Amino acid sequence: MKVTVVGSGFYGSTTVQRVAEAGYADEVVVIDIIEGKPQGIALDMMQSRSIVGFDTRIVGSNGYAESEGSDICVITAGLARKPGMSRMDLLEVNAKIVGDVTRQLVATSPDAVLIVVSNPLDEMTALAARVSEFPSARVMGQAGMLDTARFKHFVAEKFGVSPSKVEAITLGSHGDTMVPVPSLVRVDGRPLTEIADAETIDWLVQKTRDGGAEIVALLKTGSAYYAPASAAAKMVEAVATDSKAEMPVCAWVTGQYGISDVYLGVSAKLGRGGVEQIVELPLSAAELGALREAAEAVRAKQSDVTQFLS
Ligand code: LAC
Repeated sequence: MKVTVVGSGFYGSTTVQRVAEAGYADEVVVIDIIEGKPQGIALDMMQSRSIVGFDTRIVGSNGYAESEGSDICVITAGLARKPGMSRMDLLEVNAKIVGDVTRQLVATSPDAVLIVVSNPLDEMTALAARVSEFPSARVMGQAGMLDTARFKHFVAEKFGVSPSKVEAITLGSHGDTMVPVPSLVRVDGRPLTEIADAETIDWLVQKTRDGGAEIVALLKTGSAYYAPASAAAKMVEAVATDSKAEMPVCAWVTGQYGISDVYLGVSAKLGRGGVEQIVELPLSAAELGALREAAEAVRAKQSDVTQFLS
């Protein structure tokens, strides 16, 4: 099992660490254009192996030759938000970067599953799918796992329970039209809608939507990476181990919820084939309406994203 991560910033390098330490991959290749950085990161992590206890080889490179024949490629390349920026402000600059990275990955790893995490997420996933010309099942984006984890965190803190006792999910986009789904939240088995008033639920939904921006404002020089890298690594693991685990991902929808032909956050089973099955969840009428609105908002942006390719 060979995994490539493009981008050796905090998001990329933390993903490499999590995947390598989990032990299911034989080799993880980390690619960056900055000379020496991916090689240094790889050497540092390789030297941790006898302490942490794993055998995965980590290879750093400034080119794509080392990544040849990868089974899974994670694209983290591109700029992160600065305080006050929306993810959409990154559209033009990251489209050029993600387009270029995708072309190079496809040339050396034509059978890989692509997992995109660069922002704006839904648009960059659609772009990678378009540029790669891969079957849509083999291209997906990471957002729902992260947004869901944030939703669970805020609910857990609010009710003083372990996050492991919270069931929750977010759908839709990784942006303004994110759709946290209150009707499916359970806190220690109890429906959120029975234990919280409308004001509390609205607050939890808004905290989740703003979860990334809150961290950008605190860090000032970059965006979140610990929770995002955990989410990406979980998706890599599901594909690598062919686990068929169900998780929220940005996937190509084909009629689910009455929505077609757009990359959108939905719940899906992941395996070696990539997105193997989209699972339709029971939503309230308002939630379904919000999901359809999200689909139309991201569809408009996704259809013209290729104009920014260099
Ligand atoms: C976030 C960025 C990674 O939500 O999109 O933190």
